[in-house]
Amino acid sequence: MVRGVGLSLRGLGRAFPGGVRALEGVHFAVEPGEFVALLGPSGCGKSTLLRLVAGLDRPTAGELAWSEPPGDGALAYVFQDPHLLPWRSVLRNVALPLELRGVARREREATARAALAEVDLADWAGAYPTELSGGMRMRASLARALVTRPRLLLLDEPFAALDELTRLRLDERLRALWREQRPTVLFVTHSISEAVFLAERALVLSPRPARVVADVAVDLPPERDRRIRVTPAFGEHAARLFDLLEEHGA
Ligand SMILES: Nc1ncnc2c1ncn2[C@@H]1O[C@H](COP(=O)(O)OP(=O)(O)OP(=O)(O)O)[C@@H](O)[C@H]1O
Ligand SMILES: [Mg+2]
Repeated sequence: MVRGVGLSLRGLGRAFPGGVRALEGVHFAVEPGEFVALLGPSGCGKSTLLRLVAGLDRPTAGELAWSEPPGDGALAYVFQDPHLLPWRSVLRNVALPLELRGVARREREATARAALAEVDLADWAGAYPTELSGGMRMRASLARALVTRPRLLLLDEPFAALDELTRLRLDERLRALWREQRPTVLFVTHSISEAVFLAERALVLSPRPARVVADVAVDLPPERDRRIRVTPAFGEHAARLFDLLEEHGA
């Protein structure tokens, strides 16, 4: 079952006071339950775009429309930094979005434990963030995002700071969770291979002000594990995206 919500960005623009234009004429639609990767040069406006979609910032031009009202707690945002509260246990960090929504303690802890199990952190519920490795903290952050069963998951380079093996494992975990729960996902990354591995579709953005310069279907089997990365089809997709990024000045 697809639980994701669809959205449509119509000529979205964001100019900051002082004259920096981060986005201009950003136009694309995302189907409910689609997994879309966003690639683009550093500083082009990717985080600004996610913030607009999340409602953390407002566009100065254009509009954002939903396929249906996403509802309370339907959006989850994962930042590059895990942003865990050091004085709370892992369980209580993950349960926080439920606590803020007034879910009773017993229920929120049970739901948070289930979310921790989904990212293989069940045994670390009582630990504190400082006791975790970088990869474990990121998994806790992912569990906290998943705990409300979001209909739209926004991820801003979530695994960029991790070692390669940890990153490959988390890519696999995220892809599997997406297949199980089917939220709509917008995933910002600088890694072409991560985009090809995870997404059904990749959007290439221009240098600032960002707009969409290419929209590429990632036509690979739905069930993916790390071995797919060495197949010719994977390589062809990656090469295509590399060419597009080069062509558009990334
Ligand atoms: N609140 C703000 N006020 C003024 N300028 C801003 C603000 N937020 C972002 N910018 C500018 O907008 C541009 C786009 O920034 P943004 O963080 O969206 O880029 P990005 O594509 O996410 O970059 P990176 O790949 O390095 O994460 C940058 O030039 C940045 O300086
Ligand atoms: Mg950014």
